[in-house]
Amino acid sequence: MSSKFAAPKGVSEYLPPRSNIFDHIVQTLKIPALAAGYELIELPIFEDTELFTRGVGASTDVVTKEMYTFEDRGGRSLTLRPEGTAGVIRAVIEHGLDRASLPVKLFYHGPFFRAERPQAGRYRQFYQFGIEAIGSDDPYLDAEVISIAYQGYRKLGLKNFELQITSLGDSDSRVSHRKDLDAFIAGLNLDEETRNRALKNPLRLFDDKRDEIKDAMSKAPLLLDYLNAESRENFEQVKSALDSLGIAYQVNPRMVRGLDYYTGTTFEFVHSGLGAQSGIGGGGRYDGLMELLGGSKLSGIGFGLGIDRILLALEAEAETGQLLPGELKYIDLYVIALGDQARSMCFTLVDSLRKEGFVVEQNFGDRSLKAAMKAADKSGARFAIVLGDSELQSGSVELKEMSSGALTSVRLTSLAKTLAEKSSGL
Ligand code: HAM
Repeated sequence: MSSKFAAPKGVSEYLPPRSNIFDHIVQTLKIPALAAGYELIELPIFEDTELFTRGVGASTDVVTKEMYTFEDRGGRSLTLRPEGTAGVIRAVIEHGLDRASLPVKLFYHGPFFRAERPQAGRYRQFYQFGIEAIGSDDPYLDAEVISIAYQGYRKLGLKNFELQITSLGDSDSRVSHRKDLDAFIAGLNLDEETRNRALKNPLRLFDDKRDEIKDAMSKAPLLLDYLNAESRENFEQVKSALDSLGIAYQVNPRMVRGLDYYTGTTFEFVHSGLGAQSGIGGGGRYDGLMELLGGSKLSGIGFGLGIDRILLALEAEAETGQLLPGELKYIDLYVIALGDQARSMCFTLVDSLRKEGFVVEQNFGDRSLKAAMKAADKSGARFAIVLGDSELQSGSVELKEMSSGALTSVRLTSLAKTLAEKSSGL
């Protein structure tokens, strides 16, 4: 009988063996963040709705169309987090983390929720790995943040991606650009909805997917050309810091991030093997966000990397038949016990081998030797042993190498030593 339940539409789920790759991605992305002194922050999955309407911004699709908002039993409006930055800043303010030495460096990973139209690489529940560095506007920090994402992708073995960066400048630069952009947009023949969107945030029109708008916007004034001397100098410093690390980038002055809080350096990582949902990560600086949410006037910068899309990108880059890192469950030894006495002895043997660091599985239940051997084979274990009454009496077992079938007679007391020797000869 087939189950009448199915996962909700558009959510991503990871089952073995793909879940092993998922875990490997998270563990690998953490390495460069930990090496740069970032620490874990674990936050609620839902927050006050207003945190996002204010923090993420009223002109964004995320806030106007994509939030999962509900009322709790006390009549409060709550929203499943659509992104991580607003929550991190809320926690930094609430718990006074910015009273410690600056910048505060935090990383997080977990599920996020956006009610989008599901398609390949675009889900309603998806996963991000993110970092935020709060309390310094040093351009070297911008480059550090970008390099942490870059190193993470590289450590995973990804190759076919490009870093795109631009700068939204400081507020003076944005004000002078906004004046010209508003005047330019006023001269366009736009429908009412688009015009209203442009009134809230004219930069959104650069992100419009319709050909006629794309066409019209191709002549629009670009913010990058309006940076004042200070903002320009800052952007130059970020770029030369990236150069010094050998990190290649493309300047993309038409990049529009989907969230309103960005200022200064913004960036995206784009993968060539994913079709329409090519953004595998993005981020940038947010000068006013902390103040907007009721905190002090501190700048911050961070990124969110899409774990689902990184997994798809790894799969897209893999050669046919190639195993991805972490895909193969690794087991050193599969232990098959036959008979009550052997089962009780094996139970403690398995326990002690695991404590010595070996990955060991044992058969459960009263299976025939044939069925147990089949399970050992399926498990992918490198070695297997069978322990019955005669092995118990002699104190030695035949260690079977599963790939070749080769047998080595080993004393039970030196099983760990033999396994270690054979593993180091890998
Ligand atoms: P974002 O660009 O909205 O930024 O999302 C970051 C990444 O999450 C995207 O590049 C993409 O890989 C992934 N992503 C977003 N939406 C979906 C979806 N529906 N399905 C699958 N993957 C998705 C942020 O969220 C910012 N909080 C990043 C940040 C941190 N900026 C500064 N600090």
